[in-house]
Amino acid sequence: MQIVKTIAELRAILGNRRRAGERIAFVPTMGNLHAGHIRLVETARRQAECVVVSIFVNPTQFGPGEDFETYPRTEAEDREKLLAAGADLLFLPEIRDMYDPGAKTVVSVKGLSDLHCGAFRPGHFDGVATVVAKLFNIVQPDSAFFGLKDYQQFAIIRTMVRDLNIPVALVPVETVREPSGLAMSSRNGYLTEPEKVNAAKLYRALCEAKETVLLSGGREAYADIERQAQSFLAEAGFKTDYFSICRSSDLAAATPEDREIVILAAVRLGKTRLIDNIAFSK
Ligand code: PAF
Repeated sequence: MQIVKTIAELRAILGNRRRAGERIAFVPTMGNLHAGHIRLVETARRQAECVVVSIFVNPTQFGPGEDFETYPRTEAEDREKLLAAGADLLFLPEIRDMYDPGAKTVVSVKGLSDLHCGAFRPGHFDGVATVVAKLFNIVQPDSAFFGLKDYQQFAIIRTMVRDLNIPVALVPVETVREPSGLAMSSRNGYLTEPEKVNAAKLYRALCEAKETVLLSGGREAYADIERQAQSFLAEAGFKTDYFSICRSSDLAAATPEDREIVILAAVRLGKTRLIDNIAFSK
């Protein structure tokens, strides 16, 4: 696996590989890799000759008081995992290489970026969209792989790619879970052992809400199902930012007529913020 630190070097290497007829698959990450990231790399490996992974803890997607400084940086372990998963190139840009001090452009996917997590983390999704657009321009991949745990992030990137005619095929990849049901996340490392056991209740709440939506056949108001889930989570010691039954196309509140549903949730457990979701057809 080749390690590349500058945009110029990466472009030169990828130019050669493209000229040799190789397809380029891209997995953008912020490092601290877990089984969810490795599934992205393995999926990419099956679909292209050249797999590029980036590790860049992107400062513009962290708000004031969030965990940018303390975000886990585990480069040595990440390299080993990527080597074992079969990545070809690891791109490790510096902040000064990614962001010119005079930069004036921000990519903002209006509407979608202000909902759900966007309402609690103002500017977060502009930071994500901007860095992903920049990484797409740098890597120019044929395909790019994103985990569905970050469902809203995927919806925003899909909209950005459509609206800006970015020539990349997006590949959503299912969430990888612990045996308890807890979605794999770099932030799970912040949980104490008892919190980690408790955290699995978030997925339980999502599964139960899904069952109620399916079994009630629209008789039970979605707002009531959301309230029941929030009380269950409050009793279990969570503070809920949101627990919302949405239609998957635009993440607006679902109506009983909607068929493609995603239930999105964000909660706080102790000092840790967790997000998860469950998507299904009615
Ligand atoms: O999902 C992430 O790890 C990040 O938001 C991403 C897509 C790598 C952009 O920094």
